[in-house]
Amino acid sequence: MKKLMAFACALFTAANVQAAQTNNTDAANNNTEETTMAQTAPKILVAYYSWSGNTKEVAEDIHEKVGGDIFEIQTVQSYPEEYRATTTQAKQEINEGYRPELKTKVDDIAQYDVVFIGSPNWWGTIAPAVSSFLADYNLSGKTVIPFITHGGGGVQNTVKDLTAQCKNCKVASEPWVGYGSRTMGITSWLEDLGYVK
Ligand SMILES: Cc1cc2nc3c(=O)[nH]c(=O)nc-3n(C[C@H](O)[C@H](O)[C@H](O)COP(=O)(O)O)c2cc1C
Repeated sequence: MKKLMAFACALFTAANVQAAQTNNTDAANNNTEETTMAQTAPKILVAYYSWSGNTKEVAEDIHEKVGGDIFEIQTVQSYPEEYRATTTQAKQEINEGYRPELKTKVDDIAQYDVVFIGSPNWWGTIAPAVSSFLADYNLSGKTVIPFITHGGGGVQNTVKDLTAQCKNCKVASEPWVGYGSRTMGITSWLEDLGYVK
């Protein structure tokens, strides 16, 4: 009887050892897959400036679809509440090439491979706060994908100026350009770029 019990125990132990080994192999394979995915999935940042909320809405829609992190570019000195006063100030800043100081800071920009950058069209170009962002951070070697909102003027010089100010960036040839806060077409644009999560 003792011999029979010992034999049963040995069988049970052997079966457990084999099961544990199989589980370990599965876990190792899963870990390898996870590591490979982590290595290949690009780290995405959606950065934007928005004075009246349109570009913010578009940025949030993009972020929801691509994942990663979202960052609002904000200036130390806020612009006037009133539209006309803001357009007057903005015109002067753009003419003088003024770069407002930024209040918010990105944690470790080096970690990102892809940076979506959103700006409203201000006097046919990007908002000075976005110019400050491009001057403050080293985006060289990163894929930069512009998105622009406007009030009827369309893209004008926004993407051209953003591209010129983004030193050594790989600026995507297909930016998003939309009127106000309209977000239709964003999904197919992101699918074409290959960035839908
Ligand atoms: C200072 C200023 C300048 C603007 N200049 C233009 C322009 O030249 N062309 C245009 O189409 N829209 C212009 N607009 C309208 C904005 O581009 C548009 O409303 C945009 O969607 C606003 O984005 P936001 O809500 O994120 O600030 C201007 C708005 C402001 C406040």
